[in-house]
Amino acid sequence: MRSIPNVPSDRLPELLRRMPKAELHVHIEGTLEPELIFALARRNSVRLPYEDVEELRRAYDFTNLQSFLDIYYAGASVLFTERDFEDMARAYLERAAADNVVHAEIFFDPQTHTARGVSMETVINGLHRACCNARDDQGVDASLILCFLRHLSEEQAFETLEQALPLRDKFIGVGLDSSEVGHPPEKFARVFARCRELGLHLVAHAGEEGPPEYVWTALDLLKVERIDHGVQSAKDPALLRRLAKDRIPLTVCPLSNLKLRVFPDLATHNIGQLLHAGLVATINSDDPAYFGGYMNDNFLQTFAATGLTAPQAFQLAVNSFEASFVSSTTKRHYREMLEGTFASFV
Ligand code: HPA
Ligand code: ZN
Repeated sequence: MRSIPNVPSDRLPELLRRMPKAELHVHIEGTLEPELIFALARRNSVRLPYEDVEELRRAYDFTNLQSFLDIYYAGASVLFTERDFEDMARAYLERAAADNVVHAEIFFDPQTHTARGVSMETVINGLHRACCNARDDQGVDASLILCFLRHLSEEQAFETLEQALPLRDKFIGVGLDSSEVGHPPEKFARVFARCRELGLHLVAHAGEEGPPEYVWTALDLLKVERIDHGVQSAKDPALLRRLAKDRIPLTVCPLSNLKLRVFPDLATHNIGQLLHAGLVATINSDDPAYFGGYMNDNFLQTFAATGLTAPQAFQLAVNSFEASFVSSTTKRHYREMLEGTFASFV
């Protein structure tokens, strides 16, 4: 596509909604809506410390990453059976399809569940079934990325990997999430080296609240292919040059950054700066049930607040496909779909 058509600002929201896109940073446990938390609690006879959906929603008033994680792990405690995991993932995939997400790479946190006595097979088989069904039911291509919880030990991460290996064909890679500051990437260098030998894709959260140094070590010691968040990289010009030169994508999550107070408001978010610096930056929802919006909410609110325009919408969607772990043939197919949407948008 030679040039992106000029789109008047009142029609930009429709274009953002309609364009096909990939979501590369979403935690499946972060898609559990309060209504589903209560339905699963009832199904599994779990008593929640909240009277109703409204009281739970009122607790979603976060001051930083840790204040969110405490509630997020509590919410996930209603999941027990394969059907629970499948229902959660199906609900997300239906919602994503409505936002014209055509490809999703979905994080899951097995240690949150195995610590409660739920087996690795239960978690992965339930999620994987939903991904397989989404291909037929919603036309969404979905795959799974297993995340290690960085506040836990290296030994526990190795145990988790061992438990997951019999199901190796049901996930495409590994990531690193949970409390960032005080848990630098190097804590998991040996685990990631093993995952690399196994041919798994590697990603890690870095530079969400943590310093640019954590992004450097995620790249150099963990050898990750993408950085999740990475917004603190803007504080280090040499790091921005490295990310641009090596085309290391950043999976940025604007509404998450707003709700966890990484930025005081969306107007001061640095997504425009990252794109301007030539980075393969993408927009994603992170934990949409907790942060007030799915993919299109993230796109619409960010564009409205920062003044990004149609060429940047196109770039963000192109970046989402380039940054994904699909074949080059599939990337080309997605790009053609995207160009078709822009060409026919009048
Ligand atoms: N950061 C770190 N860990 C997480 C997040 C996040 O934004 N969401 C779920 N686990
Ligand atoms: Zn995340």
